[in-house]
This record gives sequence, structure tokens and C-alpha cells, in this order.
Amino acid sequence: MTFGPMPIANGFVHPDKAQTDDYRFDLTPAVCTTCNLFQLMEQPDPEMMFHDEYAFFSQTSSHMAIHFEAFANDIINRWFSSRPDPFVVELGSNDGIMLKHFAAKNVRHLGVEPSANVAAAARKNGVDSLVEFFSEGVAKQIVEKHGQADALLAANVMCHISDIKSVAQGINILLKQDGLLIFEDPYLGEVLQKGSFDQIYDEHVFLFSLLSVTALFSGYNLEVVDVAPQSVHGGSMRYTLARPGVHSQSPSLKATLRLEDDLGMSDHKTYVEFSKRCKNTGRNLKQLLTNLSHEQKNVAGYGATSKSTTVLNYCGIGPDLIRYISDTTPTKQGKLTPGTHIPIRTYETFLSEYPDYAVLFAWNHEKEILAKECEYLARGGKFIRFFPTVEIIETDENS
Ligand code: SAH
Ligand code: TMP
Repeated sequence: MTFGPMPIANGFVHPDKAQTDDYRFDLTPAVCTTCNLFQLMEQPDPEMMFHDEYAFFSQTSSHMAIHFEAFANDIINRWFSSRPDPFVVELGSNDGIMLKHFAAKNVRHLGVEPSANVAAAARKNGVDSLVEFFSEGVAKQIVEKHGQADALLAANVMCHISDIKSVAQGINILLKQDGLLIFEDPYLGEVLQKGSFDQIYDEHVFLFSLLSVTALFSGYNLEVVDVAPQSVHGGSMRYTLARPGVHSQSPSLKATLRLEDDLGMSDHKTYVEFSKRCKNTGRNLKQLLTNLSHEQKNVAGYGATSKSTTVLNYCGIGPDLIRYISDTTPTKQGKLTPGTHIPIRTYETFLSEYPDYAVLFAWNHEKEILAKECEYLARGGKFIRFFPTVEIIETDENS
């Protein structure tokens, strides 16, 4: 299947440069019949996505801040308490949302983060950050300077790196013999269950499953010892890997493999059905917005997420159907959505003129947002979600 020509998902456009917003690649996913890895056929150059104007700052979500604090504390308390002078490395450490909890406890740490602007924000949080794309070569440099790592962490980054074999080899070099690799990413199983095709965009070159992660790392002296579903980012999976035989394997592995079998992850038909479902959702969303426009309703978007770039471009939704999208990230405000040129406004715009309907592009933060927007809802405002089906959210669902 294909979602057609797509711009860079986080490539928010300055209004003066709207005429030159012409880069497109083919957003075409495929699944490998040997290793089950769900992947993009065309993968834009990483330098086009990750640079000194990278738009995504992790700390914009208070819910994610809590999530990563718990992640860090779990490692410190359960894994590091018995280790003398442990060393942790995080790939894609962004603004330091997770590593700052290690830094605060004086744990030796290093973030590897190629986007210079977010790495600078991390340094302000006391987080030591190396501005590099992680690779085999960078792993060797780190070992030379700091020694091997007791834990290697990555959240929402492993799925971003097209040169995944160099990353796997780098991890093999950097991780101690008794170390742990723990990473989490949006889970293919969730995408298939919810039909949440907006997880597919340039940065997500892979959507992992236990099947594909096992196959990928088996060539690099690492085996999966635990999997734990996470509710964040619309449904993620946390994978823990160790050297073969060093740790016992958790019963969660068998249960997850059964689930992946039940979902038909290795079956071509599953993806044909998924493709039909994407088309249906796209059609239904556009139809609903067209109807609201005919009824002269004021419709805005909530959260200029990277994911929304796939939805807007695939469905052909522009400023005629959604007047603006409100977002709390200062670097996105005043810009236009990539490809579809919907203006991005401040959160205060949303508060000052409560639209009749708000399309919840940040649907993965639904709980946090609906709790925060009780006033909007009380005044008759309505949110629209589009996964698992396109619908206006009934407020008593969340009360
Ligand atoms: N871990 C954070 C950030 C996720 S966004 C969180 O979960 O909120 C993905 C991050 O990975 C970006 O900050 C991007 O700059 C970084 N990244 C992209 N390619 C990378 C690579 N090859 N090595 C390390 N980090 C990378
Ligand atoms: P994400 O889905 O990739 O985490 O991005 C969420 C985007 O939504 C980010 O640009 C910040 C924005 N946002 C808001 O504007 N308001 C909110 O309450 C939340 C949680 C996110």
C-alpha cells in the first residue's frame, strides 16, 4: 500500500517559505516476509529530519515527563543499586527528559542526540549530551572515552534509525557482557488493532514487534528477555535485551508471541485488511469535516503532531476544513503544517475562541487533554477522534 507523496512530518513551514515547501517522498510501507519487520520502502535522509531546528521537544508533555521519571527510577533502583559506579547511555536523549533523573543522582550518563537544539536544552538540564547520530563508530568512541555501558536506553528512537544494523552493532560493542538494552517504541500490534496509520511517517522507518526485534538482534549477540506494553504514544512496547543466557526469559514473551500470531502479523491478508481500513478511516474523517464545514462550524485541530502530517496529507485536509491547529510548542507556533499549510497557533488562541470542534491530532495524549479541557467541554466544545473509528468523543466516556 502507499499513503502517497509526503513531506517531512516535523518540517513545519515558515509562512514566507510556503512556496518552497516542495520536498516529497513516497510513504510506502512494506513487511519483510523473512524477518517480519514493518518498514518504509523509501527513507528520507536522516539529516533532513534531525538537525539544529528539530521541532519535537520531549518535555512538552507532562504525562511523558512522569513516564520517563518512572523509567529512570526503575533502572536506578532495580538495576543500578548493586552496581559500583554504573554508566548509562541513552540514544535520542532529546531535551534530557529521562537522563536528567540520572544526572540529579550523580549517575554517570551520556546522551547521544544528533539534533543540536534539543541537545542544548538537555545540557541546560545538567545532562551530558553528544551531538552525533549513534552508529558503530560513535559506539567505539564512547567505549574509548568512558568504557562500556551497564545500561543502554532508547525511547521512540530505535524505530527512527534506518541504518539499524550499524546501531545494533554499535550496541553490541558498547554494552557490557552483563548489561541490559532497554528500548521502547510504538508497537505494530497496537497499530494493527487500532488502525492507527498515523504512526507511519518519515521518522518511523520501522514499526517493531517482538517477532522482528528478536530476528534483528539475534545477529548481534543479544536476546529479548522481557517485553512490557506501555500505554504511551498510542500503545508502545518496551523490549529488554541481554546477552544470550545471562538473564532468564520472562513469561511475557510467550504471551506476546501468541498475540502476534493471533493478530496475523506474518500473514499477508492482515496487511491487505489494514490497508482497506486506512482508506475507510481517511474517507470518513474527510467526510465528517466536509459536513461540519457545510454546517458552517468552526473547526480547529489540537496538537500539531508529527503524526498529523500523514493524516492531513493522506486525506487531503487543508485550511478549508481545519482553520488552525493549536500547539503549545513555541517553535511550531506561527508556522504551517507540512504540505497542507494549516496555520499553527498558540494554545491561547484555542482558549480565547473555543472552536465548535477540535480534531484531536494528539490523540495519544487524550486522557491528559480531556482532563485539562473540562471547561471547553462544559461550554459545549467537542473533540473528534479518528482511531479506532472516526467519531465525536462523548464526554461522559471520560468522566
Ligand atoms: N527519547 C525522546 C525523544 C524521541 S524523538 C522521547 O521519547 O521523547 C527521537 C529522537 O531521536 C530525536 O531527538 C532525534 O534527534 C534522535 N535521533 C534520531 N536519529 C538518531 C540516531 N541515529 N542516534 C541517536 N539519536 C537519534
Ligand atoms: P506527540 O504526539 O509527538 O507527543 O506530540 C504532541 C504535540 O502536541 C506536541 O507538539 C505538543 C502538542 N500538545 C499540545 O499542544 N497540548 C497538549 O496538551 C499536549 C499533551 C500536546
